[in-house]
Amino acid sequence: MRSDKLPEVLPGHIAFIMDGNGRWAKKRLLPRKAGHREGVKTMRKIVNACFDIGMRYVTVFAFSTENKNRPEDEVNSLFALMQEYFTEFLGEMLDNGIRITVMGDISYFPESLRNIISEAVASSKECTRGTLNIALNYGARDEMLRAVNAAVDGGKHITADELSSLLYTSDIPDPDLIVRTGGESRLSNFMLYQCAYSELIFTKILWPDLDIKKLYEILNEYAMRDRRFGKIKS
Ligand code: IPE
Ligand code: IPE
Ligand code: MG
Repeated sequence: MRSDKLPEVLPGHIAFIMDGNGRWAKKRLLPRKAGHREGVKTMRKIVNACFDIGMRYVTVFAFSTENKNRPEDEVNSLFALMQEYFTEFLGEMLDNGIRITVMGDISYFPESLRNIISEAVASSKECTRGTLNIALNYGARDEMLRAVNAAVDGGKHITADELSSLLYTSDIPDPDLIVRTGGESRLSNFMLYQCAYSELIFTKILWPDLDIKKLYEILNEYAMRDRRFGKIKS
């Protein structure tokens, strides 16, 4: 199969752990924030490509609960970058009929940034062409803890479906494919409940270097996977 051609089977939901911005900058003797800036451009390119080729759900891991523990200077530059970029990017999504959802606790974010995000979520609510789910101040353990506490508050045992409905992804299917750039083979607290049967692809490419050609290669690798979900192939 030629890897520059789109395979027939595409993931309905693709999730990206967008890692490697800092190292991309370091290689070029640039400050880390230059890597984040380039990373945002890549996010725009890749997210648009995913919807253009027919995927319905795209999740991007943009900021983890643990990323808050980075130096204040870096956290602030990430917020500033989102503030600068989100209005245009989220507006573009809206124009393209894409619904925006957020998973994570954005109450920690600066008010002006929160407002941009909340407005994009509210105004894209009825969009049906696809869903862009942005993980912001997201951690799977935090997500599960919230769900468990909500269940305990409910005062009775819950079903698996009810547990799913208490997660941030209540109306989003589990990811079919999780792609992590940057060379690390770990999930770093990302979608730990939802990833039960996700295919995982780890690539050494640093996030800012991910391009459409490589995305197609990844999709071809995914299409070759034999997804059995614990069953036996008939
Ligand atoms: C991913 O790139 C972006 C965020 C976590 C916000 P990194 O900043 O983790 O880049 P590396 O891993 O240091 O190269
Ligand atoms: C994962 O990358 C989080 C995001 C891409 C937003 P990290 O750089 O935070 O992960 P670790 O520290 O290498 O596990
Ligand atoms: Mg990293």
